[in-house]
Amino acid sequence: MKKPLIFLTGILLLAGLSSLKKGYKTPLYKDEHAPIKQRVEDLLKRMTLDEKMMQLSQYTFGLNDNPNNIEREKSTLDPRVGSLIYFGNDPILRNEIQKRAIEETRLGIPILFGFDIIHGCKTLFPIPLATGCSFDTALARKACEIAARESYLSGINWTFSPMINIARDPRWGRISEGYGEDPYTTSMFAIASVKGYQGNKNIIDSLHIAATLKHYIAYGLSEGGRDYTYTDVSRQALWETYLPAFKAGVDAGAKTVMSSFNDISGTPATINKYLLTDVLKNDWGFKGFVVSDWDAIAQLMAQGVAKDSMACAQKALMAGTDMDMLDGIYEQNLKELLKEHRVTMQRMDDAVRRILTVKFQLGLFDHPYTPVIPASQRYLQPHARTIASKLAAESMVLLKNKKNILPISSSVKSIAVIGPMVKDSFDLMGAWRGRADVKDVESIYTALQEEFNGKISLHYAKGCDFDSKDKSDFDSAIQAAKISDEVILFLGEKNGWSGENASRSNISLPKVQEDLIKAIKEKTGKPVILVLNNGRPLALANIEPDVNAILEAWQPGTLGASAIAGILSGRINPSGKLDVTFPLTTGQIPVFYDMRQSARPQSGIYQDLGTNDPMYWFGYGLTYTTYHFGKVKLSATSIKKKQQLIATVHVTNTGTRDGEETVLWYISHPEATISRPQKELKHFQKLGIKAGQTVTYKFVINPKAVLAYPNDKGESILEAGDYYLMVGNQKLRFELRN
Ligand code: BGC
Repeated sequence: MKKPLIFLTGILLLAGLSSLKKGYKTPLYKDEHAPIKQRVEDLLKRMTLDEKMMQLSQYTFGLNDNPNNIEREKSTLDPRVGSLIYFGNDPILRNEIQKRAIEETRLGIPILFGFDIIHGCKTLFPIPLATGCSFDTALARKACEIAARESYLSGINWTFSPMINIARDPRWGRISEGYGEDPYTTSMFAIASVKGYQGNKNIIDSLHIAATLKHYIAYGLSEGGRDYTYTDVSRQALWETYLPAFKAGVDAGAKTVMSSFNDISGTPATINKYLLTDVLKNDWGFKGFVVSDWDAIAQLMAQGVAKDSMACAQKALMAGTDMDMLDGIYEQNLKELLKEHRVTMQRMDDAVRRILTVKFQLGLFDHPYTPVIPASQRYLQPHARTIASKLAAESMVLLKNKKNILPISSSVKSIAVIGPMVKDSFDLMGAWRGRADVKDVESIYTALQEEFNGKISLHYAKGCDFDSKDKSDFDSAIQAAKISDEVILFLGEKNGWSGENASRSNISLPKVQEDLIKAIKEKTGKPVILVLNNGRPLALANIEPDVNAILEAWQPGTLGASAIAGILSGRINPSGKLDVTFPLTTGQIPVFYDMRQSARPQSGIYQDLGTNDPMYWFGYGLTYTTYHFGKVKLSATSIKKKQQLIATVHVTNTGTRDGEETVLWYISHPEATISRPQKELKHFQKLGIKAGQTVTYKFVINPKAVLAYPNDKGESILEAGDYYLMVGNQKLRFELRN
């Protein structure tokens, strides 16, 4: 046994000696043990201008997965490319491409493979807007960890997620991709996602991938909710509403940031030096790199700030955009721009350095290849399924439950299950489906059959399509309702109605769906439970009076259907609360919980609505049990700026079912130099409470972190005066002294 080993060692020694003789030496950047900083500098010194330009460029691979196309792409690919958006599903192909970068290029710089893993890879979790309603950041982090593992094993090292754009206009389709309207909630989910994707360490191990904070910034404020449009945003709003989640994500260690498409008050994000360089890189000390959005550098011409592609490249690079997604503008123009002294070598090197650093941190130089294990061990593992199922359940919000019609009573023997969503798994997936396959997604019908397993008979009718003029199936829906004790309607939106480039001018359910609800109500008088699957808040005022219960189930992903069935049957006690306000009508937009106070709060009301209240506020959500909140206790009623205030409240589950309750702690500051929102969420905590049990929730108020607010330069202001702490229906005054 030993002989071959001695022989092999001998050969290696000889090979080593001969390479020494020839003066070969492993370059420092290839030394796994050298510090990353030194490796980056060593590599940078060796790179030609062309090699640098390639590092700053990102293209796609496999967008069209026709085998002929893949072969063509393989043959035309320049393996010196910095990054590829990898649409393939196959680590073997990915490794084949990587091998070319490692073995066929002069310096062997690995390619960074990115992809949009927004709410799961093969195991789909609920859309982020739903996940926010769970208020369970620990669970969201686990979901991102699973997404990272599945992505890594499919060949991806970098996801373009989390999307942390605050969205207060549900007409905007991309509201589904973020965590709702609130800066604090979004910040907490930003941190959880970054840690979930990347793990805790600076050097990312093989089960994690790099995260992207996107889209930087104020993209959710697009005019009229239309995608890609202008956003008029004040510096004050930037600092208090739109920047905090990005700051939280940067502090959590996010490796990359994606600039947004939108023009921000005259300066598109892609060339916004103030935001990209002054704030992000200089003030916040962000060491990762900024990637543009898809084709966004070229689109600067359409936005009216660059006359040609040279100007696009120059403005974007010099403002701080490091990597060019897709349009090839850096690769085509930077050489010429350098010659003309319109960009600096220093800025180019800075961009390359940032990209190389992330590649080293990901371990790509030392472990460029994805381990190839059978797909059956890569995806949809039992742990992944458990987390997907729990998160789906926790993200659903019970909006109405008249006379406790839910959970379905044991006296119910038959149910009519009606609606276009009943047998349609595809539209439970939501926008950005990662690598998920519809065949892995449960259908509501199957989940109900399993849940009620012969105890309740189900009478199915489709009733109508998502949006059409055809009412020919209304009759069979009415018949199904007539022969059943209760009716459950499964309505909502198709996948493509939210997500990118999917804005809607009217956020009510399409007329045919509203008419179906009314027809069933009028023609049968049976109790109606409405289950909604959608990617945005809906305006429900037209139909809310016609239904006895509403469950907002969102687009819940692979295991969402059994979570719906579990909530309907009572196996699961709903615990979600809205992370976004539901307006009464589309015309009421914008309406969100932390608006500023009006000069005449009792007036200025829409005449046709008679109220300025929405249908459901942020934070709203019912449960099957009851909670009693004790009196909130404060450790003091007056503190100095350097002291802490501790607030506690005992919450008792006074019902008969175990539950999970989220306590939302708000602050208001009624007299400030710069007016403050009516109230601002500053802390939340979700705890399980068994029936009959009392638990204590706690909020530590550190004035600098909780009570200070930014001015329009981002400077933090902490003012003495009166503050209010609000929790449930209690409001307590306390004083802050100098
Ligand atoms: C979207 C980004 C996405 C990118 C890459 C763009 O159109 O705005 O969110 O990450 O494409 O797919």
